[in-house]
Amino acid sequence: MYHIQHIGIVGRTGAGKSSLIASIFRLVEPQGVITIDGIPTSTISLPHLRTNLSIIPQDPVLFTGSLRMNLDPFQRCPDDRLWQALADVQLSNTVKHNPQKLEMNVGVGGSNFSLGQRQLICLARALLRENLILILDEATASVDPQMDALIQHTLHSKFDHCVVITVAHRLNTIMDSNKVMVLDGGQVVEFDHPYNLLQNSGGAFSNFVSQLGPTEAKRLGQVAYERYQRIQEVQTTKTDEKQLEQNQLENDLVVKDDELEELNGYVYSKSSCCDLPFVICHLYQHLLMTAFVLGTV
Ligand SMILES: Nc1ncnc2c1ncn2[C@@H]1O[C@H](COP(=O)(O)OP(=O)(O)O)[C@@H](O)[C@H]1O
Ligand SMILES: [Mg+2]
Repeated sequence: MYHIQHIGIVGRTGAGKSSLIASIFRLVEPQGVITIDGIPTSTISLPHLRTNLSIIPQDPVLFTGSLRMNLDPFQRCPDDRLWQALADVQLSNTVKHNPQKLEMNVGVGGSNFSLGQRQLICLARALLRENLILILDEATASVDPQMDALIQHTLHSKFDHCVVITVAHRLNTIMDSNKVMVLDGGQVVEFDHPYNLLQNSGGAFSNFVSQLGPTEAKRLGQVAYERYQRIQEVQTTKTDEKQLEQNQLENDLVVKDDELEELNGYVYSKSSCCDLPFVICHLYQHLLMTAFVLGTV
């Protein structure tokens, strides 16, 4: 896994998706090695590991109490940050219209909010925690398409600097991921960009997509293709920028070499004020050398 990536995880029921998430949080100790930035998670203390990962479970349950407590359980954030997070997930109007505002009551398990709204509250909480890894277990229960689109939009706009791991139950939500991992029987059977996976028509991911029917499969294929093209373009630009930077660096070095040569030849015309101590030092050395040579003659 690389920095800043959106990864989709797919697989049939029992494939091991939830087990993988449980292993990342070390709810069960993994047999293999899971590393974050090269550090095995087994060497990180549990509180440190878990406070640095955000998760939005399939059926997010809220605490009974105030909305403020649900957003910021440790009361670390000022009100304006809480309102900003609510605005980011487009819940600020709903909360503003409640007379108790941030102190509004959250019923048992968040019963006075819809499933989609509960997910949005969890997203707002994740935004406030500013963790760089977000794990999302998609809701299987029906979230209306508008809410689904809003959640996806928030994920892409507000978590674009994060690693987002989505356990996907709807393939359309992960077609524009950087990578898709297909699990089967507890094993990773495919792991690549969805566009690349779709090139293998007999592959597991292609089979999942084709099961949705030709029209939907074509549409999803197009989404994957467009995203793939965008990534290629960004990579090309980055390579160009790197090349430009390298050229600039080489130019700088050439200039420095020129200046050094001139200095060595006691041509100081190009030297800036910053080079003055160096020039004086150089002259002093030269005079000392001359005196030494004259003295020995
Ligand atoms: N706590 C557990 N103890 C033993 N086996 C488990 C446990 N949880 C899940 N499993 C088994 O591990 C396999 C993967 O399950 P799971 O990770 O829940 O799959 P998925 O989330 O992809 O549906 C299944 O065969 C399941 O029965
Ligand atoms: Mg599961």
